[in-house]
Amino acid sequence: MVAVSELADKNALSIYIHIPFCERKCSYCAFVSFCLDNSEREKYINSLLDEIENFLTTKKVKTIYLGGGTPSLLTKDEIFAIFSKLREKFDIDETAEITIEVNPNSVDEEKLRAYKAVGINRISVGVQSLSNKTLKSIGRLHTKKEAIEKLKLIGKYFDNISADLILGLSGEKSVTSYAKKLIKLKVKHISSYMLEVHENTKLYFEVRDKKYRPLDEKGVTKSYDKLVKFLKKRRIVQYEVSNFALAGYESKHNLNYWNYGEYVGFGVSSHSFLRGRRIANADTLQGYYKRERKEEKITKDMEIEERIMLGLRCCLGVDISILKKIGYDIQKNENYRKFLKEGEIVEDGGKFYLLPKYYKFADYYILNLLP
Ligand SMILES: C[S@@+](CC[C@H](N)C(=O)[O-])C[C@H]1O[C@@H](n2cnc3c(N)ncnc32)[C@H](O)[C@@H]1O
Ligand code: SF4
Repeated sequence: MVAVSELADKNALSIYIHIPFCERKCSYCAFVSFCLDNSEREKYINSLLDEIENFLTTKKVKTIYLGGGTPSLLTKDEIFAIFSKLREKFDIDETAEITIEVNPNSVDEEKLRAYKAVGINRISVGVQSLSNKTLKSIGRLHTKKEAIEKLKLIGKYFDNISADLILGLSGEKSVTSYAKKLIKLKVKHISSYMLEVHENTKLYFEVRDKKYRPLDEKGVTKSYDKLVKFLKKRRIVQYEVSNFALAGYESKHNLNYWNYGEYVGFGVSSHSFLRGRRIANADTLQGYYKRERKEEKITKDMEIEERIMLGLRCCLGVDISILKKIGYDIQKNENYRKFLKEGEIVEDGGKFYLLPKYYKFADYYILNLLP
């Protein structure tokens, strides 16, 4: 189990910053991102800096994550502007994990140097596939060769590198050869997401019109099982349903989410979880500039459900006494006792955990363990 003691600190905070820039929309992507011209970009960055400026906290920042969109489209100067604002406003822990998401086609040596200079220490690369045919079919702007070259370049500057792969793309029965290549390129962390077909994306219409055929459910499960087995042999441990890492390279930022820690999101469509409230920034630029937000108070019932959902899907498990304190004595639940008896979940140190081999059925366990 991963040690997250430093994340359990009540005075710790994670920061997420959303960069909604993209050169072109990939066919499957439903994240909030746009192809923006220079003046809109400038307006966005100024609004983002203003949002950061107006946030008040005395908490120590343990992780920062620049996600998107495509944060590697930020210029060197934009990166410096964001980080100088962050450092001016926040008490950032010396050992903070600071991640930026990059796309192979828009990251270069000059930007990597800028990342280093501002204290970024973790790079998450959107590889998705290492087949040129597949990359083209989903609208990626890079080739296999470019992804490999950029990973080599990133490796010259950074040790903590993560790569994203998508499972279930058309014709991709297995991604283990990609994982093998990534490990050779010294990637320490792999996120493998099962392809989701979101309504109104280009992919959605292609699938509807039978122009694109993703792998069927059985094929995806096979591919996932193969990947899990392959990575396990290489000591790349599955610490969440979709995330795998060499020991010590787990994403602290994500662990804080799953640990029910506090975070603040800046930028369009970002979310915050602060003082028992969830706050969602507007999904449109117009709404964001006007600071439109939706806010909800997390009730005890919601907290019970969320803690079980988050903890069961990862190595952190669920704290039995916290559940009890908020009104749910799970040890009295019949299904819980049955899963324990059958060895599908285990109790250890006041928490219960789902064994990693059952992660792929996590939804089933969650459903059966809710009050
Ligand atoms: C914020 S997104 C994109 C990051 C970066 N712009 C890129 O394209 O590499 C983070 C990751 O989510 C995954 N992702 C996005 N849409 C997905 C979908 N519909 N199904 C499965 N995975 C998806 C991709 O692996 C992607 O790298
Ligand atoms: S996957 Fe990445 S590059 Fe592609 S549209 Fe989404 S955010 Fe942009």
